[in-house]
Amino acid sequence: MIRNAVTEAIFKRQTIREYKHEQITDEMLETLMEAAKRAPSGRNTQPCHVRFVQDAGMLHEMHIDFKNHVGWETPAYTRSDTNPFYHNAPTFVFIYAAHDSAMDAGIMAENICIAAEGMGLGTCIVGSAGALFNDEAGKKWNEKLHVPRDFRYQIGICVGYPNEQPPQKPRFDDRIEIIR
Ligand SMILES: Cc1cc2nc3c(=O)[nH]c(=O)nc-3n(C[C@H](O)[C@H](O)[C@H](O)COP(=O)(O)O)c2cc1C
Repeated sequence: MIRNAVTEAIFKRQTIREYKHEQITDEMLETLMEAAKRAPSGRNTQPCHVRFVQDAGMLHEMHIDFKNHVGWETPAYTRSDTNPFYHNAPTFVFIYAAHDSAMDAGIMAENICIAAEGMGLGTCIVGSAGALFNDEAGKKWNEKLHVPRDFRYQIGICVGYPNEQPPQKPRFDDRIEIIR
């Protein structure tokens, strides 16, 4: 296999759900914003609105809102019985778009994750928060995030310095085939 900085970042990336408190640098933030901007989109429509939230108070408020909405007993998706949906990451990226632009948002999300990996940062993609943000109860956040009201939360990404090193999860080998 060919190994270079890009393929290494792709092969090494894994979901991180524990982060150091330390915020990422502004240079890293700018790099991630550029990675988001450079993402391809269908017909180059660039339909996603992206918000990099570094306001810990705002994220905590969203967490309370999320739990009040989905229920405090709900083991909120992968370790969220202990963690908020943003896994206490110091930066959380919101990708909003119209309902038919999920593909564009997903492609942008991976761009951000791989760029972050390349800078030694950890990431976790978060779909579950849509339960709040795409419900009427969560629509107030569109305004606070300066996103058009009819836009949907497509995906979010935790970003920060990793504070865990979980083993990589195995992948199915029988789902990819060469046909020649
Ligand atoms: C579309 C999507 C939504 C996800 N939503 C969540 C989520 O809400 N919370 C979470 O902790 N992890 C979430 N994940 C992370 C997955 O659980 C993780 O990618 C998967 O278990 C594979 O692990 P790996 O990323 O370490 O290879 C999501 C991943 C994707 C691609």
